[in-house]
Amino acid sequence: MSRPISPYHKPGFYDAALSKGRHRDIVGGRWEETGLVQMQLLLAAGLERQHSFLDIGAGALRLGCRLVPYLDPGHYWATDLSGALLRRGYDLELADKSRLPDDHLIEDADFAFPGVPAAIDMAMAFAVFTHLPLSHLQAALPRVRTRFPHLQKLLFTVFLAPDYLAAQSALRQPDGVVTHSDRAPYHHLGADVLSAAQTAGFAATLSDPYLPRGQILCTAIPC
Ligand SMILES: C[S@@+](CC[C@H](N)C(=O)[O-])C[C@H]1O[C@@H](n2cnc3c(N)ncnc32)[C@H](O)[C@@H]1O
Repeated sequence: MSRPISPYHKPGFYDAALSKGRHRDIVGGRWEETGLVQMQLLLAAGLERQHSFLDIGAGALRLGCRLVPYLDPGHYWATDLSGALLRRGYDLELADKSRLPDDHLIEDADFAFPGVPAAIDMAMAFAVFTHLPLSHLQAALPRVRTRFPHLQKLLFTVFLAPDYLAAQSALRQPDGVVTHSDRAPYHHLGADVLSAAQTAGFAATLSDPYLPRGQILCTAIPC
């Protein structure tokens, strides 16, 4: 039997972890720190209360539980491979549910964004493409670009390998996590990430603010 592309794609993964109450662990733990870092990235990127924000691969709302109180009511949307994980985050982590209609949580396995409004103008995919092969990033970025004509900025994170030769081996990232070319968590070449963004119609830059687990930030602006 072939290996699933990530632990998330292993049959029964979400059911087993959620039945043990592990919604925070599913997204990698480090709950407070990582939610805060994401908020800081977005504010530094110019996020304002009136933006219509899409959290791609939002998991258990580690960001959402901070962002929903900040944004104007109803301005947060979340997609994830697991609708059950989104709903668990909504039930257990979101303090004021009146600010987020539950139909803003959308299960979406292939970045089709069903039911997400075209009005989205800021988006983030934090620690999502770190768990997916490059081909998934290459497929997802054009969908984001065409589905959201008003998008001002997309932030996403990746793990990088310094060069082609290094990319062939397992790599220990600055925060200790070990990444791979052919299994999760994945590393990619910076040139491949930038090329995927450019091909999809974004001008993109890579930067290295402090991010948990040594992730690298890609800021993509539609052009
Ligand atoms: C490390 S977690 C990060 C979750 C969230 N962005 C955060 O920072 O808390 C990775 C998330 O990606 C989701 N995911 C994995 N593959 C996906 C796919 N193809 N489409 C959408 N979400 C996916 C997983 O369900 C999981 O919630």
